[in-house]
Amino acid sequence: MNPERYLGLISGTSRDGVDVAVVRTEGAHLAVEHTLTVPYPDSLRVAIDALIQPGRRPAMNRLEPLDRSLGEFFAACALKALQPLGLRAGDITAAGSHGQTVWHEPEGPNPVSIQLGHGPTIAQCSGITTVYDFRRADLAAGGQGAPLAPLLHEQLFRGPDAGAVLNLGGIANLTLLQGPEVYGFDTGPANCLLDLWVQEQRGLPYDEDGRWAASGTVLPALLEQLLDEPYFQRPAPKSTGLEQFNRAWLARRLAAVDAAPEDIQATLLALTVETVAAALEHSSTVPPSSLWVCGGGVHNRAIMTALQQRLPGIRIASTAAQGVNPDALEALLFAWLARERLAGRPLNTPPVTGARHAVLLGTIATAQNQGEL
Ligand SMILES: Nc1ncnc2c1ncn2[C@@H]1O[C@H](COP(=O)(O)OP(=O)(O)O)[C@@H](O)[C@H]1O
Ligand SMILES: [Mg+2]
Repeated sequence: MNPERYLGLISGTSRDGVDVAVVRTEGAHLAVEHTLTVPYPDSLRVAIDALIQPGRRPAMNRLEPLDRSLGEFFAACALKALQPLGLRAGDITAAGSHGQTVWHEPEGPNPVSIQLGHGPTIAQCSGITTVYDFRRADLAAGGQGAPLAPLLHEQLFRGPDAGAVLNLGGIANLTLLQGPEVYGFDTGPANCLLDLWVQEQRGLPYDEDGRWAASGTVLPALLEQLLDEPYFQRPAPKSTGLEQFNRAWLARRLAAVDAAPEDIQATLLALTVETVAAALEHSSTVPPSSLWVCGGGVHNRAIMTALQQRLPGIRIASTAAQGVNPDALEALLFAWLARERLAGRPLNTPPVTGARHAVLLGTIATAQNQGEL
């Protein structure tokens, strides 16, 4: 099989910027050649937050302008990632773009998952055929449309020491690979509440290395209150986002709490660790021997230390130990999904998302020009 190149593009729930991966594929082999994270300009960040913050599904007419401007921004990010490799749009078979989630409501009478970053705009501006809208076909088949990462985790980590994979983004998702079929779900918050609290209390984007959390003491009564959230007890399939775990959620639970802010941060970190550990314990009869961690939370030393203390029998390490860049895995996922879509291969989402059947994920916007950027 001839080598090809794909691009993967995503901005996660942390909304910290667009991750791009340039991926060379040869048969089943995937190699990340280059990665780049492009922070959002303030104007886009503010516009995204304005859609998410009110805590209700954004109206269609408010989505369109941002859909287009994010499409243009994602296209610029794609082209920027090609520069250091001396590549041009014509060298890329396709880009897979997740876009930016602004609303994820997979259940109820009118399930929807909205990602902005208009695929045809990306294709038009970059000159690269773009696969986008990866979640809605799964929702239409009765699935959650999320998480999708377990599908790639299975490809990358399958083997005798497969164990489990944990992605610590804004939200945490866990993949269990010991059974005959891959299985995974969102456990709850990973960094989103930690980021919120450190932003509010200290004006910092995130708690570097988890040092501020590590300077505090866990408050057991508050931790118990935080754990008393129906989402954590619900069986999979399940997925969540900022629609649920946001400033209002936190404010309600902190309303009657009088404690040092660093102790609250320590307790929010304990919430992430405890929900991940409990999910792992409840979903596997035999605990996995290894837990491979990816996503920005892998750089939070306090989370990694606390997880290891909570799960002493499990080897916990970055996916880097398996040769997979922990910061590039999600971008790699969308490059891989673009290739699967172009090949016309439906993906086995039912065991993960609860869809009724395997689903062809993504919509193709074919590039018709050299790109306009
Ligand atoms: N050095 C670090 N120390 C602590 N936390 C970090 C560090 N680097 C990244 N993070 C956390 O990771 C988050 C970004 O992770 P990411 O995987 O990009 O999430 P998402 O997929 O939701 O965008 C940041 O918001 C921050 O909370
Ligand atoms: Mg991110």
